[in-house]
Amino acid sequence: MIVPGSSSQLLAATLAEETGRPLATPTYDRFPDGEGLAAVPDFDDDEATIVAATDSDAAWVELLQLQDAVREAGAERVTTVIPYMGYARQDESFGDGQPVSARAMARAVSTGTDRVVLVNPHEAGVADFYDVPVETVDAASVLAEPLPTDLADPLFLAPDEGAIRIAETVRDAYGTGETDYFEKHRDRDTGEIEVSPSDAHVEGRDVVVVDDIVATGSTMSESVAVLNDRGAARVLAACVHPMLAANAVTKLRGAGVDRIVGSDTLERGCSVVSVAPVLADALD
Ligand code: R5P
Repeated sequence: MIVPGSSSQLLAATLAEETGRPLATPTYDRFPDGEGLAAVPDFDDDEATIVAATDSDAAWVELLQLQDAVREAGAERVTTVIPYMGYARQDESFGDGQPVSARAMARAVSTGTDRVVLVNPHEAGVADFYDVPVETVDAASVLAEPLPTDLADPLFLAPDEGAIRIAETVRDAYGTGETDYFEKHRDRDTGEIEVSPSDAHVEGRDVVVVDDIVATGSTMSESVAVLNDRGAARVLAACVHPMLAANAVTKLRGAGVDRIVGSDTLERGCSVVSVAPVLADALD
């Protein structure tokens, strides 16, 4: 059975349809003292595939409870799909006395599962923190599907060099266009982003800025603003993980983004395409 975490109910349902597996209906309750209680009253299978984005501390706890609950209900084999892995940016200790948070989370999750499937983790190395087999899935290709079919002389642009591979994947799936990347500098104290334009010609072209995640939206909105200043026809934002924290959407709108295209690894208003087909292949 497919077992959804509360943050991944749409994706889990789509994955159940895609794989033909039954969908469990967990309950997500909370005690008066604030403690959560996730349960699987209708679970009845030897195999459980838990699908749970860990985009909050509560979601991590819920995932651990679901893992334990399916074992209690008789699951002999547990697969844990983490469509969006929170804490993946804390992949090292950044100062004296600080934890490697991604490792701490991975170790905890490993105790309740036989294997883990991650979708585009922010740092690939976090897969090594798990004590069970991990498969990392690149779902960036699905972002091409909801893009307009009439993009004019498209440029798929990564806001930093680290995202160029994702931009190339989306371009390849779209079928035409160039790729390029900006140089990015983030001020450690203020968090402010500065992007240095590449010398790519953008005037009159449709530009798709592609990144793995839009979190605060600073990187994406700065990129969109620069491209609009340089005369791009339309500037679209595409990301696997539309975290869109705080005022990210407003920042992007203010920068003049044409549209935001995200996947359902995080369920937001702009999650217009599903990673379920890619996950279904991985689970085969
Ligand atoms: C950086 O390495 C990532 O690929 C993203 O560009 C970054 O995490 C986005 O963060 P924010 O939306 O807060 O600028």
